[in-house]
Amino acid sequence: MASRRGSQKSRGDGNKYSVLLPTYNERENLPLIVWLLVKYFSESGYDYEIIVIDDGSPDGTLEVAQQLQQIYGEDKILLRPRKSKLGLGTAYIHGIKHATGNFVFIMDADLSHHPKFIPEFIEKQRQGGYDVVAGTRYRGDGGVYGWDLRRKLISRGANFVTQVLLRPGASDLTGSFRLYKKEVLESLVSCCVSKGYVFQMEMIVRARQLKYTIGEVPITFVDRVYGESKLGGNEIVSFLKGLLTLFATT
Ligand code: GDD
Ligand code: MN
Repeated sequence: MASRRGSQKSRGDGNKYSVLLPTYNERENLPLIVWLLVKYFSESGYDYEIIVIDDGSPDGTLEVAQQLQQIYGEDKILLRPRKSKLGLGTAYIHGIKHATGNFVFIMDADLSHHPKFIPEFIEKQRQGGYDVVAGTRYRGDGGVYGWDLRRKLISRGANFVTQVLLRPGASDLTGSFRLYKKEVLESLVSCCVSKGYVFQMEMIVRARQLKYTIGEVPITFVDRVYGESKLGGNEIVSFLKGLLTLFATT
């Protein structure tokens, strides 16, 4: 075991990648996303850890995560649960505190973000030395699959309005499949005020303001098969509020 790990490390790039996986009722999805993450990281030889931030999911996601920890090891799967559903933005903030990597991936746990893109994010980062590499559905081969018209309009609309108001210079502002230098993520998080879904958008807008460099990787976003989206009318209203706050204050 020790020698296998040793050789894996020597194939890596000297960096460690912490993956933050926020979960709320992802019992069906978690085993597959973790298996795919382990597969793509192991194949490419990069050093990594997966941090599961479960918010007291009533479906028993945490118990599933504990089993996965048994299978893959406590150094690879870290559990940092919270008692109740406190929102996506604060889940990341909580997760970062426990990350030991010098790079941090943020992605959804419902298989909408495929781990097969991870090596491309890492390549892109290395090529340009970027502070942030953002997955984009709105450039190159990127795209969205499985969303109904309503969801597509919301996403396009949110991107469009934000592009016009804030000119952030990135093509996908609400997407949440991203790679950050750890210290960059920490500094962005410390100046972000939003807590829910609007968090992603604020992060990229602030990144641009703080003159961080942003690279983009086209990704396909596939709607979840298991479980439900937590994005509801409330989230849309708070997104608009957050957007206006940013517009007024930046
Ligand atoms: N810990 C925790 N707490 N996790 C949460 C919470 C929460 O309050 N709410 C959602 N999650 C987790 C879900 O379990 C999933 O892994 C991920 O966060 C995304 O949640 P979904 O409910 O699947 O989001 P979505 O598919 O509607 O929205 C996606 O697309 C949006 C627009 O492109 C996400 O990627 C959003 O971040 C993105 O803005
Ligand atoms: Mn989803």
